Amino acid sequence: MAGHTPVPEQPTRQAAGRLPALLLVLYVLLPVWAVFYLFVVGGLVAPEVRPVARTVPGVAGIAAGPVEDGSEQVQEILAVVPKEVLDDPMPTLSPAALQTAQQQYATLCAVCHGPEGRGDGPAGATLNPKPMNFHARAFQERMPPGATFWVIKHGLADTPRRSGMPAFGALSDEQVWALVAYIRQLGAQQAR
Ligand code: HEC
Repeated sequence: MAGHTPVPEQPTRQAAGRLPALLLVLYVLLPVWAVFYLFVVGGLVAPEVRPVARTVPGVAGIAAGPVEDGSEQVQEILAVVPKEVLDDPMPTLSPAALQTAQQQYATLCAVCHGPEGRGDGPAGATLNPKPMNFHARAFQERMPPGATFWVIKHGLADTPRRSGMPAFGALSDEQVWALVAYIRQLGAQQAR
């Protein structure tokens, strides 16, 4: 009879024996999880997990500092514009055509590109990449008018860039050239 007394103690002893084992498993798993999270989920070791963040100029601009001269954006747009349009010359425009362009800019473009063409219109705020800032030095100096004409006509949504610049194919060639001239003028005021 007396030999039966230790029996109820057994489960307690077993539980006490499991506790260090549980802690050990936790100590081992926690760093493994942390490394997995930082490197694989966080993309430290596998950068191809986040290709978008690496190609989006806004993100690169933030990383490089607050001043964005637009050169990266211009370069990336030029990469998807057909080469043969780059040398297309701007035709001579009538003052009336420029006047129309000013009005069309206000109704069709300012919502994204902003009233002064700084890329800060309300509808552009959530776009990534952001609407082009026409005051950016790289836009003024390195974007050929022929490329700008092509982008306004065809947009950039159907190019590999897949950005938010819509196509304005319904405008006549003269209207588009006038818009090219107008936004270059707009941005030439205080280019930076
Ligand atoms: C829905 C928002 C939106 C509207 C409306 C819009 N744009 Fe854009 N635009 C963009 C975005 C976004 C970009 C940047 C595209 C990129 O970086 O791929 C852009 C880029 C551009 C560029 C730079 C490309 C180049 O080759 O010069 C020009 C010029 C431009 N837009 C002109 C216009 C004009 C002119 C209008 C009006 C007729 C207009 N946009 C209307 C969003 C818009």
